[in-house]
Amino acid sequence: MASTPVPIPGPRNIEWVGDADTGYLRLLDQTRLPNEVVYLDCRDVQTVWDAIKRLSVRGAPAIGVAAAFGCVIGAQQGAFDKAAEHLATSRPTAVNLFWAIDRMKCVTPSTPEKLLDEAIAIHAEDAEMCQRIGEHALGLIKQLIPEPPTPNPKSPLTFLTHCNAGALATGGIGTATSPMYLAHQRGQPVRVFADETRPLLQGARLTAFELGAGGLNVTLICDGMAGQVLREGKVDVVITGADRIADNGDAANKIGTYPLAVLADYHNVPFLVAAPSSTFDLSAPDGGAIPIEQRAAEEITEGFGTRTAPQDVQTYSPAFDVTPAKLITAIITERGVIRPVDAEHVRSIVGPEK
Ligand code: MRU
Repeated sequence: MASTPVPIPGPRNIEWVGDADTGYLRLLDQTRLPNEVVYLDCRDVQTVWDAIKRLSVRGAPAIGVAAAFGCVIGAQQGAFDKAAEHLATSRPTAVNLFWAIDRMKCVTPSTPEKLLDEAIAIHAEDAEMCQRIGEHALGLIKQLIPEPPTPNPKSPLTFLTHCNAGALATGGIGTATSPMYLAHQRGQPVRVFADETRPLLQGARLTAFELGAGGLNVTLICDGMAGQVLREGKVDVVITGADRIADNGDAANKIGTYPLAVLADYHNVPFLVAAPSSTFDLSAPDGGAIPIEQRAAEEITEGFGTRTAPQDVQTYSPAFDVTPAKLITAIITERGVIRPVDAEHVRSIVGPEK
């Protein structure tokens, strides 16, 4: 039986306004959150490209959905192929971008009407995948964290998460956040520790914002505090999203995820990755084949407008890191749970014949 859909908390991140021939893409400008709710209307392909590049729309599934709608705008201007090619250069790591563009390329004829139908389908399917991921995740968490002998109904199921793999990052209720919203909807007390996520603070600005909007109990911590919080035994499960998962289960996600997995392992806390099948890249044998985006120095030295480092300091700013499969307790997809995490089990759930 299908579960009751959880309403999407907070403002919608992606919306198509109008018809196929004259409509446009409306994006929530996530760079302005949490202080301002501002929308960006994209009527040309370059505006969509810029929005992806500057993280106005971000999160692997949402990048794919935005690019799909961007292809419709390209077709309106008689330049679908050029649009698809250009949008694919916006960000390199999240494979959902390429997956969505490839799907759009299969649409024939590539008229705005047909392409809009496909983009809307990609968006709606992503929402469904999020809900299913939450169901599978909650089932797994029940197995991993057996009830204590004298369960205290007031003691919350406590998650720790990194970056934003929530509603703002997807077409639905998020991937890593989906079991949080589902458990909350079902009356289970939930607490979430949200890493602030240096340097662009997606955890502080976005995860804390949307979980709060959804009525969840959220506690913000700096990234470097996660070890202490785990050591104090405050966390039942660590859960993150992913931007690209290789054939062997190595998973790229926001920089800072890998150290969190090492910490979870050390403290014997399950480390879960939640991602739709569109985030898998089985052509990458392992994490070494995943391209890692490098970001501008200013995001570290003067993020949000205040210089916090010497003028001449050298920087290095990979936006993502790769968590080795052996540190991942399970990967939760809309098709089921991958556990243990290795090539055989990855292929058995998301392989081409599935
Ligand atoms: O640079 P961002 O904000 O796009 O990075 C986002 C992440 O790393 C998310 O965890 C990932 O895309 C999963 S979103 C469901």
